[in-house]
Amino acid sequence: MKIGRGAAIVAQQFHTTELTGKNILITLGASVEAIDPVRYISNHSSGKMGMALVNNCIELGAQVTCIYAKIQTELNQRASNIQALSAKKMHKAVMENIAEQDIFISCAAVADFSPENIAKDKIKKNADDLKLILKPNPDILQDVCKLTKKPLTIGFAAETKNPLENAQIKLKNKGCDVIILNDVSGADFGLNVDENEVTFLSQNYQQKIAKTSKQKIAKKILEIFIRKFL
Ligand code: CTP
Repeated sequence: MKIGRGAAIVAQQFHTTELTGKNILITLGASVEAIDPVRYISNHSSGKMGMALVNNCIELGAQVTCIYAKIQTELNQRASNIQALSAKKMHKAVMENIAEQDIFISCAAVADFSPENIAKDKIKKNADDLKLILKPNPDILQDVCKLTKKPLTIGFAAETKNPLENAQIKLKNKGCDVIILNDVSGADFGLNVDENEVTFLSQNYQQKIAKTSKQKIAKKILEIFIRKFL
């Protein structure tokens, strides 16, 4: 049977997939903690894993809000994109947008500490030592998990030592539904590269996802998540 263009458009509008009707908030990238107007503390995250999740969630029909820090990847214009560079700004942006979300995916590499004071002017090299006082940042994922109307939550754990044990501890302590363990002890995958190898962990389920592109890892994470939680 031949379908006309009008009918095809209608069919497309009514095409539903596994995440149709779901609101998903995803954080990604490396947080940036200013020291002075020209210097900052950050980390090696590129945002590529998070962006792969944004792209795949959109393909599966979700409405995605993307809160991003420093990234080395293209934004998806079909998401609602909000930039929040520091941990504190990201915390505020997440809390302002969390109420209507069904799922929160915390992929950002958030600095645990930031300088107590940001120098107004560039710090000059006129002293032998420079002491920075760092104060703890809020834990965004943990705070989302404490909400009375908590969405389903997926966190990431970047580990270099005792990966499984540490990821299990994070799953419990943060109170999230899923932790994606990213063993970053090897130089070939994890941070700042295009491929990854992860383990999907929930309270009573564990599945390793073998080394492949971040796009394919994201697809597989969502496949398991949908099967187990939706
Ligand atoms: N996370 C967060 N806010 C923070 C720190 C981390 O939301 N201030 C989130 C990350 O987005 C990730 C998870 O918590 O989903 C775990 O982050 P990770 O850096 O692996 O662990 P930490 O909680 O920082 O603990 P540690 O540094 O001791 O491993």
